[in-house]
Parts: sequence; structure tokens; C-alpha cells
Amino acid sequence: VLLLRVLLIHSLFLPFTSSRTTIQRGQFPPSFLFGTATSSFQIEGAYLQGNKSPSNWDVFSHIPRKIEDGSNVDVTDDHYNLFMVLDFLNTLIKHSSRSIKPFVTLNHFDIPQVLEDQYGSWLSSEIELDFGYFAQVRFEAFGDRVTYWTTFNEPNMYIYKGYILRTTLPSRCSYPLGNCSYGDSTLEPHIATHNLVLSHPGAAEIYQKFQEKQEGVIGIVIAAPWFVPYDDTPADRLAVERSLAFYFAWFADPSVYGDYPPEMRQVVGSRLPAFSAEERTKLLEVKLDFIGVNHYTTLYVKDVLLLHFALLSRGGMAMSNFSVIPRGMEGIVTYVKERYNNTPMFITENGYAQPTGPIDNSLNDTERIEYHESYLAVSSEVMRCGGEGIFHLVSARNFEWLHGYLIRFGLHYVDFRTLQSTPKWSATRYKEFLSEDKQNS
Ligand code: NOJ
Repeated sequence: VLLLRVLLIHSLFLPFTSSRTTIQRGQFPPSFLFGTATSSFQIEGAYLQGNKSPSNWDVFSHIPRKIEDGSNVDVTDDHYNLFMVLDFLNTLIKHSSRSIKPFVTLNHFDIPQVLEDQYGSWLSSEIELDFGYFAQVRFEAFGDRVTYWTTFNEPNMYIYKGYILRTTLPSRCSYPLGNCSYGDSTLEPHIATHNLVLSHPGAAEIYQKFQEKQEGVIGIVIAAPWFVPYDDTPADRLAVERSLAFYFAWFADPSVYGDYPPEMRQVVGSRLPAFSAEERTKLLEVKLDFIGVNHYTTLYVKDVLLLHFALLSRGGMAMSNFSVIPRGMEGIVTYVKERYNNTPMFITENGYAQPTGPIDNSLNDTERIEYHESYLAVSSEVMRCGGEGIFHLVSARNFEWLHGYLIRFGLHYVDFRTLQSTPKWSATRYKEFLSEDKQNS
């Protein structure tokens, strides 16, 4: 559940050895943060160690044929054991915070199975109290060394895939034909979202007790492709606005404006829950310190009869549906800055996936280098809009949810059998980039 977004400080890296590429460290402000990102579930393994009970994803990945390549997460990169066993998270944070800034996410998709069984997790408002308690324990334990907290990673993906499309956990969709789309399914996605967006100020309110002493910040991370009209028609342009509202603003507006996006209410009407006066006060009283944007790709939006929009891809693909369109980063950064009054922002994930393969085919990952550097180049420009950091997914190797290990993100190659990690060319190049003189623009 705990996610560490690890920020690597340039001084850790090898000296400057080459200036092959156009993008240079000096094009970013000296205080700009670079890092890598992952989540505990995707790398730790040790699924029953340390008195841990199974999460819903542990249970799910043990069901035959649920994960494309038949893998599960019992071991993954065995990060839990390879790093150090005793008091794993505390030790990890203690060691990493000597040289890097840990970003800790409280919820990154998986939750204890017992909460799913007992009260349907996010479908019950009981979760707010449990999530608050969970958060408080983390603030108490790690808050002296962690100053960047995120309540949720990609709640929009969790709701969209778990409650509307039924493609992943908790695999719910009560729309009668099973042909769910935004706004057309029954109330469940709205109820789950309501409890989730209210759990953010719940946890942030608890954090306020620690904040003064610990001088930290707390934000939320949202999956954020950029959207462009499929055809340059008024209908497709309007569909883009709806996409942004349903995809992004549904989860961010409540924390900034105390309500769901008006564009969405227009479509969904009374099926969208109303915040009580008390809930609205709670939402508005707690400031959203930063917005994390997980940006990988741009999608084309078509206005489609009966659906509110359809998302399509075009162009060179990184992974099944990830077109490589670096300019899209400018679009999403500008949208978020403008809509949320320049709330500080981090690009909390950006990365390139390739099909899995033998080490010999994987180390020379020039496509990942090109992807990374072209997105870095755009992010150096959009810093004028106030972005403050960019983290590459992932340093080593992720269990890529339903795809298991068939799809590989990552700057390092991890051997499945020996768990040995070898830097790919992209890791070496990123080190070089980060070692370049900050002033050398
Ligand atoms: C975003 C998710 O936060 C992460 O867990 C996942 O690995 C990447 N997207 C890539 O799909």
C-alpha cells in the first residue's frame, strides 16, 4: 500500500561523461526534482511476511488465469527482503532520506482484502475512518523524515477500471448490460468516488496536527493523459472538455472547489452525490498542497452517440495504448495549472514500457531514452507554468498489474530467477544527464 516515489539527487551519480542529447540538466531550475517512482505492491514481494495480511491484489493474483502471464506478486523484485527485513519501511525511509527525498503514497490501488469483505471498501463511508487511522500511523512513524505525502495514486484509474469497466479490482460494474461507460453505470462508481475524495481531506486534516512540526505537504496523484479532438469539430472539442472533467476534475475539483465539476453534473445530474454542508467545509478547509500528474500519453477523443466520449490512440506506441506524444505534457500541465490556480505540481510518473524479453534484447533501450528525453525536453519548457519535479517509472522492474511481467517499464533489467539488477542504457544516460552541471544551460 505504501508507495515510495524516490527522488535521486544528482550528486549521487557518475561524473558527466557525454553531451549526446539536446536536453540538458541546466535547462531546469536548480531546485527541480528528478526521481523514479514505484509502489510497494509492484516490487516488494514478501506477501505474507511481517504480519501482513493479504491485500485484495494478493488474493486476486493467486486466482488462475487472472494475470496475463500467470505470475503473482509473492516475490516480484523481493525488495522487502533484499533491502533489509527488520522494520522494512522504517529502515528504507531512514536510509533513503540521507541522500534522497522520499515521496510516500498512502494508497496505491491495493487494500486489505478484509476491508473488501467486511464492508465493500470504498463503497462504505466506514473507510474514511479506517483510512484516517492508517494515515495517522504512517505520519507518526515516518513523518520526521518524510515531507511529501500523497493520499491516493490514480484514484481515477481505480474507479474507472474497478467500478465502471470491471477490468481490474474490485471488478464491479452494476450496469445491467455490463457495457459500462462513464456516467452510464449505476451509482457505485459515484459512491466509491465520494468516499474516496472525502478520505483525502480526512487524512489531510489528521496530517495538520503533524504538519507544523514536520513541515511537510500532502497532495493527491491523478492519472492524466492529455486529450485532443479526434476530428477538429465542435462536437469532438466538447467531448474533450467532458473527458477532462470525467477523467481528471472528478477527483481534483472537490479538493479545490468543494464540489464535483459542473461539466460532469450537467451530464450525470442527480446520480452525482451532493456534498453536505459539513463535507464541503471539510473539503475547503484542507488545502491541497500539490497535485501529482501521472502523464504517459495523449488520447484522441471522439464524440460518440450514447457515450460521453470515446478514447482512441494514434501514432507510435510505447505499450498497447500509449502513443508517444511529448507535446501532450504541455497540454495537461497547462490545464491543471489554470484550472487549479497554480497549485504546485509534480509529474509523478512518466515512463516507457516494452515487451518483456531476454537481457540481451533489453539493455539497449534507445526507444526508452528517446521517449524519456523528449518528455524531459517538454517538461523543461512547461516549468514556466510552475511544475516542480518529474519522476520516471520505474527504477528497477514493476509487476505491471494485470499484465504481470509481460510488459516492462524500468531503467534496470531484473533477472526473474536471480533477481540481479543490471542498468539499461537509459539508466546510464539518466545518470549522465543528472550529473551535468546545473548551470550549464
Ligand atoms: C500508473 C500506476 O500508478 C503504476 O502502478 C503503473 O505501473 C503505471 N501506471 C504503468 O501502467
